Amino acid sequence: MPSLLALLTAALLASWAPLPTEAGSWWSLAMNPVQRPEMFIIGAQPVCSQLPGLSPGQRKLCQLYQEHMAYIGEGAKTGIRECQHQFRQRRWNCSTVDNTSVFGRVMQIGSRETAFTYAVSAAGVVNAISRACREGELSTCGCSRTARPKDLPRDWLWGGCGDNVEYGYRFAKEFVDAREREKNFAKGSEEQGRVLMNLQNNEAGRRAVYKMADVACKCHGVSGSCSLKTCWLQLAEFRKVGDQLKEKYDSAAAVRVTRRGKLELVNSRFNPPTPEDLVYVDPSPDYCLRNDTTGSLGTQGRLCNKTSEGMDGCALMCCGRGYDQFKSVRVERCHCRFHWCCFVRCRKCAQTVDQFVCK
Ligand SMILES: *[C@@H]1O[C@H](CO)[C@@H](O)[C@H](O)[C@H]1NC(C)=O
Ligand SMILES: *[C@@H]1O[C@H](CO)[C@@H](O)[C@H](O)[C@H]1NC(C)=O
Ligand SMILES: *[C@@H]1O[C@H](CO)[C@@H](O)[C@H](O)[C@H]1NC(C)=O
Ligand SMILES: *[C@@H]1O[C@H](CO)[C@@H](O)[C@H](O)[C@H]1NC(C)=O
Repeated sequence: MPSLLALLTAALLASWAPLPTEAGSWWSLAMNPVQRPEMFIIGAQPVCSQLPGLSPGQRKLCQLYQEHMAYIGEGAKTGIRECQHQFRQRRWNCSTVDNTSVFGRVMQIGSRETAFTYAVSAAGVVNAISRACREGELSTCGCSRTARPKDLPRDWLWGGCGDNVEYGYRFAKEFVDAREREKNFAKGSEEQGRVLMNLQNNEAGRRAVYKMADVACKCHGVSGSCSLKTCWLQLAEFRKVGDQLKEKYDSAAAVRVTRRGKLELVNSRFNPPTPEDLVYVDPSPDYCLRNDTTGSLGTQGRLCNKTSEGMDGCALMCCGRGYDQFKSVRVERCHCRFHWCCFVRCRKCAQTVDQFVCK
């Protein structure tokens, strides 16, 4: 017969059982500054074991490529910032909630938003590593060695030091996908479907950076005559990559895993996704209300636009709950005058503006 003490202990343990903790993610490299290479002690390993959120495979890569870690962190940060820009006017706004899981439980749902987040952060890593190579920050890569484009005019020189997107792409693939590749779920299981989804979206993000890198040129020659041009490969502005991936988000395809362990479209009338497309396996959770199970933060307290009919408008943003109005003071530069020569002097004007926040 179980003793009273045992029963009590069991009851206490049950009530104390913590919520299942979210797995850490390499995204956490964006939240905690990674030590720069010159601060590493040769042969010392603790750097990698102290970085939270890495999977075993990523930890090994960290040991092999320690000097890359700061740039992976930078790439993740760039990706997160871009995600927050693209979603600033939406119910889910890509906000970070902690330093280990970074986005919290919402990423456990294989939604469209999760798809975008994986893609844009993988893109951030390609971007950061490609640039670091060009800047000579990494010992394993240098300037791009892409072949001269065939359509480049014959008298233009090819040979400026370009962003190394080939290396950035390959390294990001190794590192970002490592976590997915080391999982071993049964073929056709839901978990395997999610792994395939992550891999597809990581790839779409990397390809966006790769494909959008373009030729840039500089003029030389006597007094700007531009008789001579030197050209090289250059990354696109990351904002453009974000815009492109946002379009992919809008056209993302709902997929499911087959018994054979492949993804297939839920609606077979659509074109199958290409490697550049985003896919998702789960419907989005309700982002209107706070829900600790799904990790949704809800839209209470979010600023909204009273006159907009879009997602940033109070009607949609507040999900019909209504909004509160308050006045806030905005200080702006005003009455600016040009002074000869050459500066502009402004005054500061305070303006009262109406603001609206969701109930
Ligand atoms: C996250 O990390 C940053 C930098 O290391 C630190 O300032 C901040 O307090 C941490 N936040 C939490 C919630 O632990
Ligand atoms: C939270 O979301 C889950 C899953 O959608 C749902 O079943 C549950 O009722 C929600 N909880 C609250 C408090 O809204
Ligand atoms: C994003 O949403 C969260 C939760 O509703 C809110 O706390 C945060 O202020 C929002 N961020 C921006 C930039 O609007
Ligand atoms: C609110 O939305 C309207 C209509 O879309 C727009 O013209 C206006 O600039 C927006 N106001 C703010 C403060 O964003």
